[in-house]
Amino acid sequence: MRILFATSELYPLIKTGGLADVSAALPSSLASMGHSLTVLLPGYLPVLEQAREQGARILTDLFIMDYPVTLWATTLPGTEVSVWLVDIPGIFDRQGGPYQDITGRDWEDNAWRFRLFAEVARRLATAESPLGSGRPDIVHCNDWQTGLIPVLLSMTPGSPPTVFTVHNLAYAGLFSRDTFDRLALPGELWHPDALEFHGRLSLIKGGLVYGDQLTTVSPRYAEEIQQPPMGYGLEGLLRHRGDRLRGIVNGIDERQWDPAHDPYLFMTYDAGRLNGKALCKADLQQTTGLACEPDTPLVGFVGRLVEQKGVDLIEDMIPRLVAAGCQVVLLGSGDRAAEQALASKALQHSSRVAVSLGYDEALAHRITAGADIFLMPSRFEPCGLNQMYSMRYGTLPVVHDVGGLHDTVRDPEFDGLERGTGFVFGSDSAAECWHALTRALALYRQPQHWQRMMFNGMSQDFSWRRSAEQYLDIYRSLHNRTLNKRN
Ligand code: ADP
Ligand code: GLC
Repeated sequence: MRILFATSELYPLIKTGGLADVSAALPSSLASMGHSLTVLLPGYLPVLEQAREQGARILTDLFIMDYPVTLWATTLPGTEVSVWLVDIPGIFDRQGGPYQDITGRDWEDNAWRFRLFAEVARRLATAESPLGSGRPDIVHCNDWQTGLIPVLLSMTPGSPPTVFTVHNLAYAGLFSRDTFDRLALPGELWHPDALEFHGRLSLIKGGLVYGDQLTTVSPRYAEEIQQPPMGYGLEGLLRHRGDRLRGIVNGIDERQWDPAHDPYLFMTYDAGRLNGKALCKADLQQTTGLACEPDTPLVGFVGRLVEQKGVDLIEDMIPRLVAAGCQVVLLGSGDRAAEQALASKALQHSSRVAVSLGYDEALAHRITAGADIFLMPSRFEPCGLNQMYSMRYGTLPVVHDVGGLHDTVRDPEFDGLERGTGFVFGSDSAAECWHALTRALALYRQPQHWQRMMFNGMSQDFSWRRSAEQYLDIYRSLHNRTLNKRN
């Protein structure tokens, strides 16, 4: 099958979170199964620079809504996946992030930027495509940035069917009525059954209303978003579309996240050679300024410092962990207030707690390998990748029982030591989080049991293949329905 995968992030070219990892790993997995995959990505400035260095070439020039558009073609390194970059001068090629300027403020014209991106996707996927017979059988869209693509395709006869994946419903792409008026969309879309959401424009609603199939990134999250508060007011719509909504848990990119071949690690290791993990721990302690204490439990965290990730719980746990004799290593960036709060906690306990603010791919890998326990007290978590990375690295996760954390971590209290892979707490209170951490710390003092759980985690199958098969089922059935309709 030919699949056009539209996304606003793609690892390693541009990343703010897990969407980038998924946008690389799912298409790679599908391509390795013999399908033709093209990722459509905005041509942000750093992306264009990297792509040109890697020999990207111009595929075609278009003129879209009065804008000259150049489509650059490159490939995802080490894969058969084509990447097409939508280069619109003045729109994506700016200094700053994909959604925000360098000061952290949303780009004022975000709605317009992704409106143009959607129009390019529509053009490429339909009879107007300059690509002729290379048109896709399926267009797979991701999150609010691509929400207008299913809308535009649904209004274009002969379009391929669309899959719309919700990676995070908390980001809805909300804009004003005035913005809607400036997007050159048909007026009838300003309706509660279409893009209007309580007097505002909701771009994610475009995907949810018009996507032929909806998916989200774990089965539990698919249930959660059909109820308040996780539905953010869209729960009614999601229940209404419930027969078209499916949860498929993310996999991980096992080439990027493999302790046996990870170039970022001081020493590689696997379940049969765990001495490498001990060296990774010593290296992490040394480079973060902590004392080299092999037997001290080391608790790690990597993630965006936003409310979703339970930053307040992490803050609350720090003094308790220190009092219990642990060391803590944290890496993250996000809300300024959360960054400052964590940094000041670290200062209060500087000999036991190391905080790095910023984005650091190498350190993320080294924390995942060097820590004993990975703390992930997310208030909500559509899937979450870090808990899977940590299990694969023999680092036991302590997680809140929500979304993908519920679907991927098994607690020995419920599943037995023979199957346990981490520690799960039911309500997002500090008391419950701490209780799960104390259970983890108690088990850490029983090396045989601890190692049993490390092995359980390390031998899980987190590969994308199974999940990719489920997406393929969806693509096939949508494609067959389209063919049947046409005949
Ligand atoms: P989300 O997409 O909600 O941020 P995920 O767990 O799905 O959460 O994915 C987060 C991804 O971003 C992981 O690959 C994680 O390692 C990475 N990441 C998050 N923050 C940082 C950081 N400060 N430095 C390096 N990697 C980070
Ligand atoms: C979102 C979610 C995260 C998920 C990721 C990739 O950013 O917050 O839970 O793992 O998307 O699907």
